[in-house]
Amino acid sequence: MTWRYVAAASEAALRAGEIHRARYGQQIEIEHKGEIDLVTEVDRQCEAIILDVLRPRFPEHDFVTEETRSTRTGSRFVWFVDPLDGTTNFAHGYPCFAVSIALTIDGETVAGAVFDALHSDLFTGERGAGAFHNGRRMHVSDARDLIESLVITGFPYDILRDTDAKLRRFNHMMSRARAIRRDGSAALDLCYVAGGRADGFWEDRLEPWDMLAANLMIEEAGGRVSRYDGAPLGLEPDEIAASNGVLHPKLLAALRMEE
Ligand code: IPD
Ligand code: CA
Ligand code: CA
Repeated sequence: MTWRYVAAASEAALRAGEIHRARYGQQIEIEHKGEIDLVTEVDRQCEAIILDVLRPRFPEHDFVTEETRSTRTGSRFVWFVDPLDGTTNFAHGYPCFAVSIALTIDGETVAGAVFDALHSDLFTGERGAGAFHNGRRMHVSDARDLIESLVITGFPYDILRDTDAKLRRFNHMMSRARAIRRDGSAALDLCYVAGGRADGFWEDRLEPWDMLAANLMIEEAGGRVSRYDGAPLGLEPDEIAASNGVLHPKLLAALRMEE
């Protein structure tokens, strides 16, 4: 039954991806939500397209979208939509961004799609049925130690106010992992953990629309996601640690700067 939600999420993500591809590298209107937090006309256009695809199909469902104030009615079915994850990259012409769409039922993510239009990478996940990259099943990596791991991170937009704490954690991880990357699209970063391109990921704060779809994929691909203390994540903005599962205790210990 949930496959039809995955199909709808994928269709909406592909439609938004067409716009990403068409507008990438063009002159676009950019506004500031904060000092370094941008929104572009492409974010808004993509959000409208995604809602045009999903709303008529699921008129009873609720939608929480990054760029529009949500009007929750209390439905058990809630979609979380990030129409352009990696807005800063998009605005600068840096080729790393995606669209991310997840459906939760009673607070549990059951379906998700993340689409990277420039690389034609469609990542999907369905609770109980697996995670897929362009239709091929994804598996997490088999790295066992941080020193053999490629770990990705990101910095939330409050980095200018809270730089020191974030850099202490970054420094700590830098001397423990084989490599650290900071790409600028959390949704894609997390899909890379699901597919084994990366072994772990952390960020001090993500929004649900950044992470829910890809977190489902990580779990379906055999990995783990949690808070830094190992507690499960909910639907609220939160810190996140994600890994192939085997690494998780070591990743958490490093994030807490214990080891
Ligand atoms: C951001 C990206 C970035 C992460 C930020 C997010 P946006 O999303 O995922 O990698 O570090 O915390 O807010 O604003 O480009 O949709
Ligand atoms: Ca985002
Ligand atoms: Ca966004």
